[in-house]
Amino acid sequence: MAIHDVLKMGDPRLLAPARPVADFASLELAQLIVDMHDTMRALNGAGLAAPQIGVSLQVVIFEVNVNPLQPNPRYPEVEPVPFTVLINPVLTPLSDMMEEGWEGCLSVPGMRGLVPRYTELRYQGFDATGQPIDRSVSGFHARVVQHEVDHLNGVLYPMRIRNLRDFGYTETLFPGQHLQDD
Ligand code: NI
Repeated sequence: MAIHDVLKMGDPRLLAPARPVADFASLELAQLIVDMHDTMRALNGAGLAAPQIGVSLQVVIFEVNVNPLQPNPRYPEVEPVPFTVLINPVLTPLSDMMEEGWEGCLSVPGMRGLVPRYTELRYQGFDATGQPIDRSVSGFHARVVQHEVDHLNGVLYPMRIRNLRDFGYTETLFPGQHLQDD
């Protein structure tokens, strides 16, 4: 078990496209997933992409509010998203409809921005054992997948904000809500 430092915006490794996973049976992949899980849990992230801990592979994980007794202190108000390991993902929007919603990122600590995302999409890829995943989702689930897969393409959410007036410090944007964001 290892909790890693998360790279912060400005680090060029966050801007590089990640390589697909070729060997699903490797010990390195299994260890990477354990480390990503430990790191996401320790920081109360909704998701984490391998490049955020300096590993240029197409691996993302996410999980939000699966335990109603322990709401995520970063996103206490959003609907549950099951714990998922998604490798070599392919996203297909299911309509042209987009909606704006507030996002944060462990690589952009202390800040939130209003980001447009597709409201419904299909995602395909593989789980940690190489079994196929094929899901159609909407709402925050669709949002978190788009955010994490962006990391695999070197895209951070501030690059998608339409109006930089909708970008700021979490404590200032949401006073008194005590949203954890560091
Ligand atoms: Ni992020």
